[in-house]
Amino acid sequence: MKEYLLGIDLGTSGTKTVLFRSDGTAMAAHTVEYPLYQPQNGWAEQEPSDWWRAVQETVQAVLAKSGVDPADIRGVAAADIAGVGISGQMHGLVMLDERGEVLHRSILWCDGRTGEECREITETVGAEKLIAITANPALAGFTAGKILWVRKHLPEVYKACRHILLPKDYIRYCLTGQFATEVSDASGMNLLDVPRRQWSDEILNKLDIDPALLGRMYESVDVTGTVTAEAAALTGLAEGTPVVGGAGDNAAAAVGTGTVRYGKAFTTLGTSGVVFAHADSVSIDPAGRVHTFCSAVPGKWAVMSCTLAAGQSLRWLRDTCCAGEVAEAAKQGVDPYELMTALAEKTPIGADGLLFLPYLMGERSPLLDEKARGAFIGLSGGHGRGHLIRAVLEGVTYSQRQCVDVLRGMNVPTEEMMACGGGARSAFWRQMLADVYGCPIQTAKAALEGPALGVAILAGVGTGVYPSVESACDAIVKPDTVLYPDAECGRAYEPYYQLYLRQYPALRETFHALAAMRSRA
Ligand code: XUL
Repeated sequence: MKEYLLGIDLGTSGTKTVLFRSDGTAMAAHTVEYPLYQPQNGWAEQEPSDWWRAVQETVQAVLAKSGVDPADIRGVAAADIAGVGISGQMHGLVMLDERGEVLHRSILWCDGRTGEECREITETVGAEKLIAITANPALAGFTAGKILWVRKHLPEVYKACRHILLPKDYIRYCLTGQFATEVSDASGMNLLDVPRRQWSDEILNKLDIDPALLGRMYESVDVTGTVTAEAAALTGLAEGTPVVGGAGDNAAAAVGTGTVRYGKAFTTLGTSGVVFAHADSVSIDPAGRVHTFCSAVPGKWAVMSCTLAAGQSLRWLRDTCCAGEVAEAAKQGVDPYELMTALAEKTPIGADGLLFLPYLMGERSPLLDEKARGAFIGLSGGHGRGHLIRAVLEGVTYSQRQCVDVLRGMNVPTEEMMACGGGARSAFWRQMLADVYGCPIQTAKAALEGPALGVAILAGVGTGVYPSVESACDAIVKPDTVLYPDAECGRAYEPYYQLYLRQYPALRETFHALAAMRSRA
């Protein structure tokens, strides 16, 4: 009896691999971090070889920790894994040559260099047609603009390119030798016919991108290949273990939090901040302020927003201003964010008149402006680190609320709201979400394993352990805590939120002038 499922989540800060029993119990988890390169203001890149190394190390570690012995030459124990699912940061561009070698660092989801190419895509395809087919406007973070950028700026790389893959699909290639993708992640490329769940020949033709460069399309639960002998030797997995389509990290988190039916939604407080709502049919914001993607549930869709620097804003503050908390946390053996949040808790709502705009990497939802930048507004000599931390937490929360308001305006229900991602570990931050949204915020028992659990569930469905994604979620995803909104706090946050909404329009011109000065420098 194959009693295990493996979920690999290729995040931006690191890769987390979790081994689950088929009832959803986490047996062992391991994370390996890697660097993010920012060679220019607004650019973001990673080395695909770092991801593959992290996958090898984390898979070996969970097999060793769980007592499933990777060194067992008969592979009997590792052969108890029914299937592997891979989740990953979306939109990143990986280009391979004819030998399957990486040609260039991956250009990531939070990279804002492709404004020009996005305008070109919109002109070539036509704004309305692009939204009708791909369900989204051309966005700087999405993959098509990156492909055009490489074609224009690195023609030698483009000429040598034979395969275009998304980050987690590169790992699939390393594990199985297959060039494949699946509908949830491919939705973020601006190349997929999202309503029909297949590559759009029309868009590929208009953008002059050879369809042969792209991976074969699957649903998230489909088996896309099996672990090769070479990958088995490197990871400790058994040769022949099935690898399912898996999902983009947000669609995977949806499965891991049970957001697989109409009415359900979640907020991720991870490197990016996401508000995600399940949709039974294709529902598109004509202004493109939020994204419409295929979900990991076969035949279903999702509407979601993406704040580029959510946890990333807090991480930036930790790394630039909170060396004291980092050192103290190391002494106490706790997470530095715990000490930072404790400081924020001591300051009042509104951080004594300090606002923060979290646009450190430009902003996607709902502003669609890669030139936007972060700001503290109202800074005084009386403010200390606690105020800065509180302002960052509040600014990220207001950004999520602005996206929730867009979804509410589209009549997409968001009241059954879960929270997941590293930031959701903080009850203080979850309570802030509840107060600012004005609705209860729930967590699921394994919410922290979110995307890894989600793709392990998909692997369970794809290998016949469960009959459907919905029934697997019913059996596995268990509710944990719920925090209810405090009406008085909600009233106290509201004027700050309204003021927050007015800041980007007031500063837009300044952000664009600064971007023009940067590009002349
Ligand atoms: C979603 C998005 C991010 C990444 C990184 O559109 O860009 O959430 O998937 O996690």
